[in-house]
Amino acid sequence: MKKILIFSALLGLIFLLAGFSSSNSEIEINPNSSVSKIAQALGAAPSLHELDYDEDMVRMGKELVIKGKTRGPNGRKTRQQSKHFKCISCHNVVKEDPDLAIADPQARLQFAKENQLSFLQGTTFYGAVNRSTFYNGDYQKKYDGNPRILKSHKDLREAIQLCAVECAQGRPMKKWELDAVLAYYWSLELKVKDLNLSASEMEIIKQTEKGKNNSEALKIIESKYLKASPATFGITPKDAKAGFSNITGHPENGKLIYDLSCLHCHEAKKYAMYELDDDKMTFQHLRRHIPKYDRYSIYQVSRYGAPSYAGKRAYMPQYPIEKLTDQQLEDLRAYVDLRAKR
Ligand code: HEC
Ligand code: HEC
Repeated sequence: MKKILIFSALLGLIFLLAGFSSSNSEIEINPNSSVSKIAQALGAAPSLHELDYDEDMVRMGKELVIKGKTRGPNGRKTRQQSKHFKCISCHNVVKEDPDLAIADPQARLQFAKENQLSFLQGTTFYGAVNRSTFYNGDYQKKYDGNPRILKSHKDLREAIQLCAVECAQGRPMKKWELDAVLAYYWSLELKVKDLNLSASEMEIIKQTEKGKNNSEALKIIESKYLKASPATFGITPKDAKAGFSNITGHPENGKLIYDLSCLHCHEAKKYAMYELDDDKMTFQHLRRHIPKYDRYSIYQVSRYGAPSYAGKRAYMPQYPIEKLTDQQLEDLRAYVDLRAKR
């Protein structure tokens, strides 16, 4: 009898403990926690590009993005993805915005200067898996109805493939290569520390429990980063000579754009045939073309891009205003003017 009593008391205790721990299943959260996992624990739907991956896939994806080639699962070297570009010609692979909730090109330029990053037309791959649409805004409008653009809007794998072929002007990636790039992107997913949560917001999130209504906490998390990188195409000023005449350019800021953006591709002809450097004559050449609407006009190439040279395939992508504002374009002009004189 005694034995049975003890036994059932023990059993009760076990149930109690089990019940206690399941009702108290708090969501683990620390600075390095995955934002996407936390969002899912709080009730968000899983993203369409979830992937099981391992370290080796991350390595291969990273090499494809940074070097354009890798050693595949069979141990053999792949062909170069593109002769013309690497993905990093146009995209950073680290956090590039101090506040992930807004696309502010001037804050990004400052951040690029402080962290020695480039300032580019494409959006960083950091946090790409946390976005839910791709090629947004005017990219969709410009290629309205193009089925591949439409598909890549909602599908990150398609977006990678489209850019490999259309942006990088290279060969399509094989399925395992796409998975590897995606695995690398997952290694660059947003972490809690990237969200700049205040102490009180952190408290709200920490007090949530699995299976409860956590919409407030989820709302806080989702307000801290953009789910899509916006893109609005700008235009050149009506009168190229006058420029955007209501704006005064600041040459110090223009220097940052020249150094962190233009030189990224044009210095020593890294990704382009046309060479830019720090020589007075280079600036004089650029300045001469500013009042005209021709192929060397900084207004023209910034807003509409530039075609490749004959027999080449590397072209210059345009900057949407979320990547280069009219103010920044005038800053660049002011810098060109200043350096042409000195
Ligand atoms: C010549 C420039 C260039 C090259 C090279 C390039 N891209 Fe892009 N890519 C862009 C631009 C411009 C966009 C437009 C959307 C954006 O990123 O804001 C874009 C968009 C993307 C997007 C969608 C991003 C988003 O949030 O909308 C992905 C994914 C992508 N590229 C992957 C790649 C990969 C992978 C490579 C290398 C194989 C590559 N890109 C090479 C310029 C380039
Ligand atoms: C992602 C790489 C990239 C960036 C960034 C970039 N360019 Fe280009 N640019 C190119 C490519 C590629 C071409 C095509 C012609 C070539 O191969 O030189 C080109 C063409 C040009 C041309 C026309 C050259 C000609 O002979 O027709 C000018 C002028 C120019 N770029 C200026 C700039 C300026 C100014 C900036 C900074 C605001 C800039 N570029 C940023 C890649 C880039």
